[in-house]
Amino acid sequence: VTLVAVKPDGVQRRLVGQIIQRFETRGFKLVGLKMLQASEDLLAQHYASLNRKPFYPSLLRYMNSGPVVAMVWEGHNVVKSTRMLVGDTNPAEAKPGTIRGDFSIHISRNIIHASDSVEVAQAEIALWFRRSELMEWECCDHGSVYQL
Ligand code: PPS
Repeated sequence: VTLVAVKPDGVQRRLVGQIIQRFETRGFKLVGLKMLQASEDLLAQHYASLNRKPFYPSLLRYMNSGPVVAMVWEGHNVVKSTRMLVGDTNPAEAKPGTIRGDFSIHISRNIIHASDSVEVAQAEIALWFRRSELMEWECCDHGSVYQL
């Protein structure tokens, strides 16, 4: 499982539907979804490793500027595959066909966040979601997406 969050610029630009569609059509399973205005406390914890970066204050202001849509996606190799779907952190380096490569131009407004490792994903999901907000369910097309 991995954490994906459509950032405030992605929500403002009405890209939520197109972003969800990319994960759905790929075959991943949605197990958590919510819209929220992220608190400064949550964002400070989420970006704790960046708190000495020069862009940290503006990153927190931007992330706190409006609602975000947080999701948890499940599936084979989902952390790595999600990073590939999302594209390079800097949209200028992101390949066409990726979410950032198709919808964004500048690193300070890069539309979407995705966990960068399995360990980080576990920590981020625990930070953003309660256990009761995560659904356990069977996708009816499981046998067509995976080996039976
Ligand atoms: S670093 O320097 O390697 O730790 O940074 P990186 O891993 O590339 O990026 C970490 C997150 O910081 C965001 N970022 C920025 N936000 C605003 N302005 C600037 N200049 C900037 N540079 C990096 C970047 O989008 C990453 O956010 P997430 O939410 O993790 O994608």
